[in-house]
Amino acid sequence: MSSKQGPGPNKKGPLRPGATVRRRGGEPRGAQQPAARTSWDPLATWYNGWMGEGGSEYHRQLAVPAVMRLLEPESGEQILDVGCGQGVLAPHVSSAGGRYVGLDASPRLLDLARKAHGRKGLFVLGDARQIPSLREIESQSYDAVTFLLSIQDMDPLEPVFSGAAWALKAEGRAVLLLTHPAFRVPRQSGWGWDEGRKLVYRRIDRYLTPLPVPMNPLGGNGSGVVTRSFHRPMSHYVNGLADQGLLVEHMEEIPAHKLNVAGSTTRAANLARKEIPLFVALRARKIRHAPDNGSRQPA
Ligand SMILES: C[S@@+](CC[C@H](N)C(=O)[O-])C[C@H]1O[C@@H](n2cnc3c(N)ncnc32)[C@H](O)[C@@H]1O
Repeated sequence: MSSKQGPGPNKKGPLRPGATVRRRGGEPRGAQQPAARTSWDPLATWYNGWMGEGGSEYHRQLAVPAVMRLLEPESGEQILDVGCGQGVLAPHVSSAGGRYVGLDASPRLLDLARKAHGRKGLFVLGDARQIPSLREIESQSYDAVTFLLSIQDMDPLEPVFSGAAWALKAEGRAVLLLTHPAFRVPRQSGWGWDEGRKLVYRRIDRYLTPLPVPMNPLGGNGSGVVTRSFHRPMSHYVNGLADQGLLVEHMEEIPAHKLNVAGSTTRAANLARKEIPLFVALRARKIRHAPDNGSRQPA
């Protein structure tokens, strides 16, 4: 990428509803072309059904309230939701007076988002690893960027965090909510029941090694296409943000609201549930420009 000197906040004005999103210097995207290989387009119908109106139980009870707590949106703030899916966060940001823009790589999920929440926000098709190349997203124009259960579906982290930092105003916030990588390693961790000690424990088989994990194709469209989720240790998130001038200033570790473990007592399951978190949420603040942030030009 070549350089552009410190582009100011959104010189083109706010996004228009129904705007066609083009990559800078490129043709309009095909309507049904997923923007990244990690797009959940093949899972869109299943995911929308699983989420239902207002989001899954986990979204409603835990994830959305935590993101809103850390986000603390003020009226008129511009919020970019990266990996927005079918737009579950849009009505919450909009009710708080924020101006919501959702970005996702899945055309189908974006169609569903526009149908359900078209009045609450704007939805943009694009790859989170190429934010500076999206014509409709301007440098230093967002007060906050959110990743609601989406960052673990993106790879690699570096261009995603650098694009988020590029889009943020000075002192803007990045709020991430993810399944806690220290305790929930897909296929490499699980609950157990210790009959002798009468306690529920969590077993972690691997943690420090990053792992791409194939998504369960249960919800696929029958084509056999799956996407991947990416396990990484916590340090990759904290240090990856810091590398882009985004310093973590707040962290919450959030227990599940329920837990059943085969063979265990309810009391033991409850104790374990309260001790071992399901999600972690981070808020980072843009305290400086990374070396090339704010000086990007179209690819
Ligand atoms: C688990 S879903 C979460 C969606 C939504 N935030 C929610 O909580 O319902 C992950 C989302 O990330 C999107 N995604 C994955 N890779 C992406 C990328 N490189 N660029 C943009 N979106 C991406 C997927 O299409 C999917 O919608």
